[in-house]
Amino acid sequence: MSEQAKKPIKITETILRDAHQSLIATRMPTDLMLPIIEKMDKVGYHSVECWGGATFDASLRFLKEDPWDRLRKLRDGFKNTQLQMLFRGQNILGYRPYADDVVEYFVQKSISNGIDIIRIFDCLNDLRNLQATVDATNKFKAQEGRGHAQIALSYTLGDAYTLDYWANMAKKIEEMGADSICIKDMAGLLVPYKATELVTAMKSQTKLPIQLHTHYTSGVASMTYLKAVEAGVDVIDTAMSPFAMGTSQPATEVMVETFKGTEYDTGFDQNLLAEIADYFRPFRDECLANGLLNPKVMGVDIKTLLYQVPGGMLSNMVSQLKEQNAEDKYYDVLKEIPEVRKDLGEPPLVTPSSQIVGTQAVFNVLMGERYKMATKETKAVLRGEYGQTVKPMNKEVIDKVIPGEKRITCRYADLLENEMSKLESEMAEWKQQDEDVLSYALFPQVATDFFKYRQAQQDKVDMTQADTKNGAYPV
Ligand code: CO
Repeated sequence: MSEQAKKPIKITETILRDAHQSLIATRMPTDLMLPIIEKMDKVGYHSVECWGGATFDASLRFLKEDPWDRLRKLRDGFKNTQLQMLFRGQNILGYRPYADDVVEYFVQKSISNGIDIIRIFDCLNDLRNLQATVDATNKFKAQEGRGHAQIALSYTLGDAYTLDYWANMAKKIEEMGADSICIKDMAGLLVPYKATELVTAMKSQTKLPIQLHTHYTSGVASMTYLKAVEAGVDVIDTAMSPFAMGTSQPATEVMVETFKGTEYDTGFDQNLLAEIADYFRPFRDECLANGLLNPKVMGVDIKTLLYQVPGGMLSNMVSQLKEQNAEDKYYDVLKEIPEVRKDLGEPPLVTPSSQIVGTQAVFNVLMGERYKMATKETKAVLRGEYGQTVKPMNKEVIDKVIPGEKRITCRYADLLENEMSKLESEMAEWKQQDEDVLSYALFPQVATDFFKYRQAQQDKVDMTQADTKNGAYPV
């Protein structure tokens, strides 16, 4: 044994959420997860990330599964491991800002159905959009003895994003009552030596644990983890090898082996990890064979570093240009993206700001005049509805796009009336459990379609039972 003080690095496993969201459009069904969770529960993970916006949406929309039911089944299986979810601040898991009563109820139901750690982010890093979720988590933690509010800062590059900015944000997060901080590098922009500087700067201002989340997109992620761990980061996010690398996270087994025998040794059993990988590998092969897993997303996309644009945003842009028969404008749009981003106050590029900036850049180029047409979302950003940006927005653009309109500087949710009772009454006919109203709140159409499907399945089962009672056998 070494004389060094032990500081085992903690691991969050992402295979049940981000890994399959990043590589196979979030299509891993619950039935595939359940047989392996007993083994996963023995690994010693800090947490397993298993729930979030895309998993919720894809469950209802494509897999015809109740996402709450998935959560309860995972909770039953994971007896020793914390379960983690991703939460879009005031947008919860959806695409519009919700009133605080919906945010609070969603947090309560997430915790009571099995979530331990709620990772909360905002696309502008406007901390006011995260406070209601943090407060709700702390409230239910006090009541139920479970619940951990983690604030994630969306990592980005730009003039405003100095080490002082990040260090200062870390300090503010601690003051807000959060339990930990995550550096959420959705595009894989954080390079190894910058990670050393960033973690050191943030650690100098807070005692909260810091977790690092990145993607392999640009090819540097495992090196970035190594430097971040050496600089004192507490937790890293990794994915089991069959669904690692590419646009997903570094492989769990590789990071475990990297730190073996050092003061950061996880103590995980590689044989157990190998059994888990063996379980997922046939599903990976199936996804490769049916095209769900595209080999294109598994390589290194260096453009993400060159243009500082997330990979998903680039592919959106390409398809928008294709639709307009304007693929030759690719480089013009690439040049326009940083300009639009500057006009809008230099926000991070993450859902939904990435789509807003990308679409507006396409419009600006295709119309031949900047802001001749502005999207509804661009207007809302300029009005301040998404929150405060780190830099001021371009005054000329404001005057051109929303001339004479009132801009807000308060927290947008302060303007919203409570909405739970309205939602309850809208969906009353479909309600079979309390959680259904939350599914409806997030995705009204998709949830209603799912409720109808569920009803039809139940009616079919009832008919079968009735037939059996009469001695008839269903054919
Ligand atoms: Co991610």
